[in-house]
Amino acid sequence: MNFPALKNDNLLRAARGEDVDRVPVWVMRQAGRYLPEFMEFRKEHEFFEICRTPEFACEVTMQPLRRFDLDASIIFSDILVIPQAYGMTVEMCPGKGPVFPEPLKSPADLPNLQPNGTAEKLSYVGEAITMMRHKLEGKVPLIGFTGAPWTLMGYMIEGGGSKTMSKAKSWLKDYPEDSNTLLSMLTNSIVDYLEMQVKAGAQLLQVFESSAEHLSKEEFLEHCVPYLKDIRDKLHERLEAQSIAPVPMTLFAKGAGHSLAEQSKLGYEVIGVDWTVDPLEARKQVGPNITLQGNLDPQDMYKTPEEVKALVEEMVKKFGKHRYIANLGHGITPLTPIESMKVLVETVHKAF
Ligand code: CP3
Repeated sequence: MNFPALKNDNLLRAARGEDVDRVPVWVMRQAGRYLPEFMEFRKEHEFFEICRTPEFACEVTMQPLRRFDLDASIIFSDILVIPQAYGMTVEMCPGKGPVFPEPLKSPADLPNLQPNGTAEKLSYVGEAITMMRHKLEGKVPLIGFTGAPWTLMGYMIEGGGSKTMSKAKSWLKDYPEDSNTLLSMLTNSIVDYLEMQVKAGAQLLQVFESSAEHLSKEEFLEHCVPYLKDIRDKLHERLEAQSIAPVPMTLFAKGAGHSLAEQSKLGYEVIGVDWTVDPLEARKQVGPNITLQGNLDPQDMYKTPEEVKALVEEMVKKFGKHRYIANLGHGITPLTPIESMKVLVETVHKAF
């Protein structure tokens, strides 16, 4: 595809377990509402209009890179584009988050989903990725991403965010076969979608299992882990069959700190951890051959610059320079002071 040569490959080297010049740092939701220029852009354009218009997606992806010395960019999109591709309506309501006016009410609704051609329907994400690779001029690598099956199933059934994911959890218990049908359908679409993203130029892929936090360890191992493993294995098979080099993959299962040892065996190079996990304990659980990513509490970003600096120094010291990607333990929140981002990035870079 003849993309510009990569100048700062610390993220990819960290993911592969190679030495780095400095600890790479990026932030989940780094293009988002804490940036005034994002809010300005959102006044003019609806959320999914930005996702679907490669020029707009690239502009917003670029915004945090203009302000901060980040070591990665992540393509602007959302995990809910897959349910949209299935024919479900998803609206992004400011202040409320995503809303599905017609969520899945029972397994009788499953035949209405249209999973065929998901990657083709989402070709606009691939176009944005390819365009972004050129616009980046090799400055930093570009991350592609997807929601994981359980997290997507949760939103499709709850009709939006939920404090408990109670309806979706009831499906797991009351309709185990239909739940497996849905989770498998999503798994297959995700493999197609990620394959398309790699072909378009994504240099690392992150799988967000954000709703793992609602499951017990036992439920996570039963309803998430097999599909997460499948995604990685099938994608690798698919790429290998076409002689396409695989890219490193990150698994971020929020709230699944109980199963880091199990996560480390799924073939993902990087495991993301939230702030409830102690870095030393995480390293003990995953062993030496996995890269860890995380995990400052997004709430810590509201502290004074001096406090943020001290907390980041402590975090980086605990994770160490090798096989580590600095990040928050979840997405940055809308009222975060810009100054905290500067302190985070600078402190990580000065650490070693
Ligand atoms: O990280 C990035 O900068 C890339 C963009 C990105 C967005 N969503 C943009 C976004 C990514 C990686 C996501 C992933 C995503 N989307 C997840 C997984 C990560 C996580 O936070 O757990 C989930 C669960 C979603 C679904 C979603 N989208 C929710 C629950 C919400 C509402 C909550 C919120 O933060 O507002 C969104 C909206 C959303 N996605 C916004 C952005 C910038 C803000 C909405 C707006 O601009 O109106």
